[in-house]
Amino acid sequence: MIMTPDVPTGPWRVVVGVSGSIAAYKAPFVVRRLRQAGHEVRVVATDAALRFIGAPALAAVAGRPVSSGIFDDPAAVEHVAVGEWADLVVVAPASADLLARVASGRADDLLTATILTTTAPVVLAPAMHTQMWANPATRENVATLQRRGLSIIHPDSGRLTGADSGEGRLPDPERIVAEALAVLADRRARRAGASGSEALSGRHVVVSAGGTREPIDPVRYVGNRSSGRQGVAAACAAAERGARVTLVAANVADDVLAVLATLPREVEVVAVGTAVELHDAVRRAARDADAVIMAAAVADYRPVEVSASKIKKHGLQRGSAADGSARLTIELVENPDILASLVADPPRRDGERMLTVGFAAETGDAEGDVLAHGAAKARRKGADLLAVNAVGERLGFGDVPNSIVILDNRGYEVARVEGSKIDVARVLIDLVASRLSD
Ligand code: CTP
Repeated sequence: MIMTPDVPTGPWRVVVGVSGSIAAYKAPFVVRRLRQAGHEVRVVATDAALRFIGAPALAAVAGRPVSSGIFDDPAAVEHVAVGEWADLVVVAPASADLLARVASGRADDLLTATILTTTAPVVLAPAMHTQMWANPATRENVATLQRRGLSIIHPDSGRLTGADSGEGRLPDPERIVAEALAVLADRRARRAGASGSEALSGRHVVVSAGGTREPIDPVRYVGNRSSGRQGVAAACAAAERGARVTLVAANVADDVLAVLATLPREVEVVAVGTAVELHDAVRRAARDADAVIMAAAVADYRPVEVSASKIKKHGLQRGSAADGSARLTIELVENPDILASLVADPPRRDGERMLTVGFAAETGDAEGDVLAHGAAKARRKGADLLAVNAVGERLGFGDVPNSIVILDNRGYEVARVEGSKIDVARVLIDLVASRLSD
């Protein structure tokens, strides 16, 4: 269960945006309904909107003048001030042109500038002819806006202006107000719940950390340079948020694990060596997990045969390399892909949701940059979130700051973080908490 701190319920400061559609005549009803419910309203209309409905009508219901252009009152810096003032921005109606301008980041009037500057939730209620609504350009704009976190209230079907009818009608003002306030309430609740110190209380989070070592013989292994610090930071962040945490640690040094002792609650540490051991331990721990974070660097391959005794140099066949030096071939076999297996075959058998999070350490190459590789991997692995990190000799490994982009399973950017490993871990854990509370 998530302990959600008290979430305020308003009254809110609402910007009602009106754009150029015949449905603009319904905007005063949206404003009136909001004011009747006790909310403070400011109307921002586009020039085109004011050709459909007069400013005096909107001002009368809003109880204050209507703003329109960026230059109406330059001294008031309205294009920033209105967005900062707002707890919520509702655009009803949102014309095809308005959607296109917002999708392309335009700020050529006060409404688009407000949408671009505000950090408040933005809810758009499109209204237009069916052909415009169905046009691929509008579909793409809507998809872009939703991907960026703006909410769309789906238009109704019915009679449109003229003789035609179809999808594209502005919904009833009551529905617009109810849905917009629900978006705001949800955003507030999630923010309060996701960043609260008990946001993961009652949840079990499994984190893998470190790098696997695949033995060649009793003294040698195939390994990688992962220190385990990012995974340990994720374990700390999850514990800070109240989760029960199991850390499956592949060859993580004691001094890296030492920070766990400073946490308010104990983190269970399961030490493993190889990828197969990691696979087994993660799947076992994940049987009741709410989230599994795969921060470990897993060797993709392991030697087919592990020599029982130390392989001796003098036992190698000589003269096979061009310069006459000895060559040794180690045959490798593929390891299980643990993250992919968690997605395809979740170890939770009770049907409860288990979030999966991966890390991708990438370098760019001729086939694409770091993000292109990250997005392809996000889609391939199918984990709910993938934290993509650029790695090189001095970037990403060891105790150095990270620069991470978090993608969803379609490869779309969800967040971007620069900072220490614990900064990255906290953002990631807040995203996990917020998704678990959805
Ligand atoms: N991972 C895993 N099991 C593997 C390999 C990787 O669970 N056998 C996980 C890692 O813990 C990480 C994510 O998958 O969370 C991405 O790891 P990465 O090594 O970047 O992915 P690969 O699939 O091995 O892709 P690449 O071809 O780039 O090595």
